Amino acid sequence: QVAILDFGSQYSHLIARRVRELNVYCELYSCLVSAEDLGKHKITAIILSGGPSSVYDEGSPHVSPEVWKLIDERNIPVLGICYGLQEMAHVFGGTVAAGLKHEYGKSIVKRTEGCKSKIFDGMPEEFQMWMSHGDKLTKIPDGFAPVACTDNAEFVTIEHAEKRMWGLQFHPEVTHSPLGKSILENFVIKIAGAKPDWVMKDYANEFIEEVRKKVGDGHVMGAVSGGVDSTVAAVLMTRAIGDRFHAVLVDNGCLRQDEAKNVLKRMRDDCHVNLRCVDASDRFLGLLKGVTDPEKKRKIIGGTFIEIFQEEANRIESELGVKCEYLLQGTLYPDVIESISYKGPSAIIKTHHNVGGLPASMSLKLIEPMRELFKDEVRELGMAMGIDEDSVWRHPFPGPGLAIRILGEVTAERVKILQQADKIVIDELRSSGHYRKIGQAFVVLLPCKTVGVMGDCRTYENVASVRCVETTDYMTADFYHLPYDVLATMSSRVINEVRGINRLCYDISSKPPATIEWE
Ligand code: XMP
Repeated sequence: QVAILDFGSQYSHLIARRVRELNVYCELYSCLVSAEDLGKHKITAIILSGGPSSVYDEGSPHVSPEVWKLIDERNIPVLGICYGLQEMAHVFGGTVAAGLKHEYGKSIVKRTEGCKSKIFDGMPEEFQMWMSHGDKLTKIPDGFAPVACTDNAEFVTIEHAEKRMWGLQFHPEVTHSPLGKSILENFVIKIAGAKPDWVMKDYANEFIEEVRKKVGDGHVMGAVSGGVDSTVAAVLMTRAIGDRFHAVLVDNGCLRQDEAKNVLKRMRDDCHVNLRCVDASDRFLGLLKGVTDPEKKRKIIGGTFIEIFQEEANRIESELGVKCEYLLQGTLYPDVIESISYKGPSAIIKTHHNVGGLPASMSLKLIEPMRELFKDEVRELGMAMGIDEDSVWRHPFPGPGLAIRILGEVTAERVKILQQADKIVIDELRSSGHYRKIGQAFVVLLPCKTVGVMGDCRTYENVASVRCVETTDYMTADFYHLPYDVLATMSSRVINEVRGINRLCYDISSKPPATIEWE
């Protein structure tokens, strides 16, 4: 495996992702990892990540002398990126100084004339890379040679071919470094000789082994929503510990039509997940009565969800006599705002949004199998595990569900109207072949009525809006250009088949300035 020693850079997980894109397995370790722990693994290469510190700062993190000894003894190739380069320079006698000009953004890297460094094998003489640093190298360490510069910095790449060490001032792992992948490939595969034979299935097997070791004969709880993240997480956990994983589906009365029933079937029958469903529709709808403020709706739903989850934990304990010590969460990489920092493994890992909500008072230990994966990788993992395509390719669905797609008060009647319209729209997107090209699609029920005519009679009914967006990261999005004929079929079907809707609109806003959901 390739070991990434993390100095706390916001890009450390991206390095891991890029290496795995080369089909090489890698793991992230704290930069303070002991030689003993690291030495247990067969390490083919080490990458030192970037980090927010300055190497001379008091208390700045450093790789231990024992790890450097291990690197030397095993002749492990090392690639230092940004702070990683400075750390190498610091250890081997170079000098780092605060750069006069901080460099953030695109930079043109120029290779040293006549230099045939293996790290740039097959690359042009000049290329664009992404810089993000304040300090820079002013004297290169003994035995190293400069192999590239920019207009602002003399030593942006250095190497010690014999020691098999390379240092980069820039970030090859980010998308703004278009040829960054070639550098990582040169290092990991051509120089270090790692075999590109790692696939998603291995990820699953490794997770399963790891969880078995960690959990022992303990029990794990987890919320399941039917979305791809919680489905993949639940199936992984079931394969690891079987029925000692207790999945809970909470029907908050604001799910899609027949959703609870369908999820139960897929998860229990097809994936053998030990799943219990709590029908709390009345409880949620009762609490939402008269509430129109979007934030209040979210708070009520989030808070009640946690209460119910806690109640279920108590029920599992009293009915089965088992206590769950762990909580499974389908957190993805984009949800993670604090990486495994150099403060070491004891640092508390914060997660940005708790999929399903973590009951803090339960003090459960977290298991997050997909913490290092992006959505597309989770889908790939789901496919590799043989989960059905429909589950794997489902659009995301927000925790508060249809409650934030019914503007104004949420009532059982309005939920039903929206469920019917939503089903028609999704069915039409599937049958016209657009569903997979869309990032997210849904219907919103507006809090106003309009006049229409049906047969010879006047109608005065609700307006609904269809929202389809194209997006890769859900941070920005554009409305999907759905052909008119598909829109026409949707409109005709919704207005004719759903009692209570007499007008259908199409949302043509992008994010920003709009958001994907309406509330
Ligand atoms: P917005 O509306 O902020 O949504 O553009 C971005 C993505 O987040 C989803 N979303 C949520 N997901 N709980 C969730 O699990 C929530 O409270 C929530 N609110 C929005 C939204 O559906 C879209 O995919």
